[in-house]
Amino acid sequence: MNDKIIIKRSDFIFAKRLLWKMRNGNTKFDEREFMARGRDYLFNYAEKNAGPLDPGRRAFLKGLLIGIGVLAVASAVPLVSSLNPALVSLKKFPWMIIVDSDGKPIEASKFPVNDPTIMLFQYPLLGDITFLINMGDENNKPVEIKPTTVVIPENGHTYTFPGGVGPYKSIVAYSAICQHLGCTPPEIHFYPPQYFKPGGVVPNFLPSVAYNAAVSANAKSVIHCDCHGSTYDPWHGAAVLTGPTVRPLPYVELYWDSNTDYLYAVSMNLHAPPIMDHPSDLVGAAYLDSYDETTGCPKLIVQKNQTPTNCYTKVQSDGNTFGGSS
Ligand code: FES
Repeated sequence: MNDKIIIKRSDFIFAKRLLWKMRNGNTKFDEREFMARGRDYLFNYAEKNAGPLDPGRRAFLKGLLIGIGVLAVASAVPLVSSLNPALVSLKKFPWMIIVDSDGKPIEASKFPVNDPTIMLFQYPLLGDITFLINMGDENNKPVEIKPTTVVIPENGHTYTFPGGVGPYKSIVAYSAICQHLGCTPPEIHFYPPQYFKPGGVVPNFLPSVAYNAAVSANAKSVIHCDCHGSTYDPWHGAAVLTGPTVRPLPYVELYWDSNTDYLYAVSMNLHAPPIMDHPSDLVGAAYLDSYDETTGCPKLIVQKNQTPTNCYTKVQSDGNTFGGSS
């Protein structure tokens, strides 16, 4: 009999995130509270720490509880882990062409400036969602984002952010997972310079502490997380403007091919803080959906004169981490 539990890949990513939070000292799951309040506590906990629960996600968690037994929450961590225990890792960062939702390559010169809807892509592993933003001034003219030194408030260390790419050197990519406790869009989002120009209208959904910090730092735009108020400066390497986060958003290094106008995600800076809850940017929950078992690389990988080989390897060999039922 096949006793494997079948879960969707997206639910698996969610479960992994939840587990990270449950184990994390700052967000530790309170088992006694769970025993007292049951499912409501778990739902609230999951919503607060791992992201919004739509009906499908609630049903998934409910199913998980039925599967493990409500009184056996202590076993939830090993049980969920056993659904698919293997983390996967990259030997090196792959080159990946960035495409829109139709699979069409993004053309840098046509990419909207200051677009509040923002393009998201996943890199380097599944669930590693990343903002792609074309920075501009308050008139939506692209603005060069210069290289800068970014300070990590947590430890005082620094690293270099290489600046923007594209015809105006205005396009940047930052992790869309808040470095405080991991909230994701729409909780974390981008505010363009129209709000911050002299006489600009203060958005009533941006707390004054964040707005004032942006204005006094002369920040032209911000990325702000509604969950607990962390604010980042996307013109300066997504440096921290307001806590509680003590880590800047990691950036994805981009390459612009001026012949084709296409954009590529090519690397991340291992001196920058890793993506929230990752031991390293090279390690994560699962491969990208575009993983190609023949080459071991994303199918969308394109690099001139290069045959991609062995992009990925597994940390553990047990479990079918790619192409399996999860
Ligand atoms: S998750 Fe707490 S501020 Fe973003």
